[in-house]
Amino acid sequence: PPVDSLLLVNDFEDWAEKVLSGTAWNYYKSAADREFTAGENQNAFNRYYFRPRILRDATNGSINTEFVGMKTELPIFISPAAMAKLGHPLGEVNLTKGAGKCGIVQGISINASCSLDEIMEAREKGQQVMFQIYLNKDRKVSEKLLEKVTQLGASAIIFTVDTPWRSKRTRDVRSKVAVAPPSSSDGQTKSKAPLGVSQAISGYQDTNLTWNDIGFIRKHTNLPIIVKGIQSMEDAELCVEHGVQGIILSNHGGRQCDFAPAPIDLLYEMRINKPELFSKIDVMMDGGIRSGADVVKALALGAKAVGLGRSFLYANGTHGEDGVIRLCEILAEEITNTMRNIGANNISDLKPELVGPAGPWVY
Ligand code: FNR
Repeated sequence: PPVDSLLLVNDFEDWAEKVLSGTAWNYYKSAADREFTAGENQNAFNRYYFRPRILRDATNGSINTEFVGMKTELPIFISPAAMAKLGHPLGEVNLTKGAGKCGIVQGISINASCSLDEIMEAREKGQQVMFQIYLNKDRKVSEKLLEKVTQLGASAIIFTVDTPWRSKRTRDVRSKVAVAPPSSSDGQTKSKAPLGVSQAISGYQDTNLTWNDIGFIRKHTNLPIIVKGIQSMEDAELCVEHGVQGIILSNHGGRQCDFAPAPIDLLYEMRINKPELFSKIDVMMDGGIRSGADVVKALALGAKAVGLGRSFLYANGTHGEDGVIRLCEILAEEITNTMRNIGANNISDLKPELVGPAGPWVY
């Protein structure tokens, strides 16, 4: 369908299911075990409602902001997600070009299907990107990579920490794709069951990671470090102690630990119990964001920006670069409408008192 006829974020998912290859759909949609967390990431947003304020002159305002020193036209970023070419032959380059035109920051997955050089060359002048890393069993490889992305001009390193071990991505495994298995035995894959895409591309990842590895990354880049995959308040505090610049509350879109908490619930828990954390470190989140209202809820609770993973893969898969741009337009419109209707003209007007748990409230 013409890209302008898509009106909601999830319209891209509906079309993706119809037009993507089985391999792509099953890999993108997939989540761990019984997929409870993947569903909860979205459902949990429905338990928070606005407390709109009125008569605040909604004539002027903007939705641009900053996180971890990066400027963005919308308070969203592209969460790093692997294998964009499964959905569209131009792959991640579409995301880069779309992000450039919309003025948002792209997170580039270490498992991107386009080469790092291709992606970096597709940037507009001054366009900011973040590079996401998993540490390699051979740290020399990680060292070289960190040095390369730093030299190529990335603006931040995202260190993803919610994949200490493999998970069973149920529908990805069921689709039994013939992807080449990892070249060296990864010490985890004991069964002879067919590999899904996830398992086939993750064999190099180290499983013995500790807090010391933040020091390893720090040693090989001077870029800000954002730790992605924080799933508890305690670990958010440890990130402050370890001097990283940002955290992304995330459970990998429900793809790792089934029954990990929904990030919006964790954000709320932190807002209530550890409000001081929000001034010590930039807090971001991703997982389950499917509308501008979702974005505004997270920002009001203290997130500096929020990421979308699958929605960008679906938009790229159905409409390529035009889909990426349309997705940003839909979100920009919904974010603006929502903000003005709750009495917020600028991102800095989004305060915790504008959001609360859903009623009915018993006093
Ligand atoms: C991911 N995600 C991910 N995260 C990461 O740090 N490195 C990666 O390579 C990938 N790869 C990846 C592939 C696919 C197909 C998906 C769906 C996700 C997780 C991603 O960054 C993000 O946390 C979630 O996608 C957010 O949830 P939503 O927006 O998909 O609900």
